[in-house]
Amino acid sequence: MSSPPSPWSPPSRPGPVLAATGLTKRYRDATALAGVSISLEAGTATAVVGPSGSGKSTLLHCLAGFTRPDAGDVTLDGLLISRLGQRTATKLRRERFGFVFQSDQLLGELPAVENVALPLMLGGMSRRSATARAAEWFTPLGLAGLETRRPGQMSGGQVQRVSIARALVVGPSVVFADEPTAALDRATSTTTMEVLTRACRHAGAALLVVTHDLDVAASCDRTVRMRDGRVHGVVTNPSAASSSSTATAGSVG
Ligand SMILES: Nc1ncnc2c1ncn2[C@@H]1O[C@H](COP(=O)(O)OP(=O)(O)OP(=O)(O)O)[C@@H](O)[C@H]1O
Ligand SMILES: [Mg+2]
Repeated sequence: MSSPPSPWSPPSRPGPVLAATGLTKRYRDATALAGVSISLEAGTATAVVGPSGSGKSTLLHCLAGFTRPDAGDVTLDGLLISRLGQRTATKLRRERFGFVFQSDQLLGELPAVENVALPLMLGGMSRRSATARAAEWFTPLGLAGLETRRPGQMSGGQVQRVSIARALVVGPSVVFADEPTAALDRATSTTTMEVLTRACRHAGAALLVVTHDLDVAASCDRTVRMRDGRVHGVVTNPSAASSSSTATAGSVG
């Protein structure tokens, strides 16, 4: 990228890329997180499952810096990021994190390739370079020929693959996905998860997927089960590549 090197781009080091300890978050009438510790390793995929209201999205928002936890720390490559100011957190998110959501916030008036280029342009890259870089993602993600389509002229699965390209184009350390397949049918959901996990593994990004869908969870290296704001269990998925990532259940054990 043409933007200046980020202060958050230290040399790669052993250990988790993203780690959180003792995260708690209370709202007026709900305890969304009651002491969650979790760590994410580069190139591995973690699913977070649990009943509605168990704190899955709050966990994602705290890890990604959208929500400030009441207590607990989040570190990225060993650097404490949970106490950053709004501006710094926004810059950090733009440079180090990618996001895929259920119904994506792609801009309907922009061609797909420009949607993918947008995060690069926000980081200071010229439109021309950013669009060229963005276009490189289309063939690997099965989107060849769709570069100039508007999101409204694409299928749900194609839109999600554009979203995956947009999440990965900045070379993120962590990709966060909240219910990325909720609006898709079964077959499209399976393909989309294959594309997402493969692209993140290939790019060396840690992937965190919040989902209600156990098939989606099974496509990840491990599944973290949440209940009442706590980690209730962690299962390594037998079909996926082994991972040394850990998640612990705070005071639940
Ligand atoms: N901004 C907020 N203000 C008040 N309460 C909130 C807020 N965000 C979340 N909560 C509450 O915190 C708890 C956890 O919510 P969260 O959205 O993390 O659950 P979730 O596991 O993602 O649920 P779902 O599967 O329905 O998306 C819930 O009781 C919810 O009502
Ligand atoms: Mg949620």
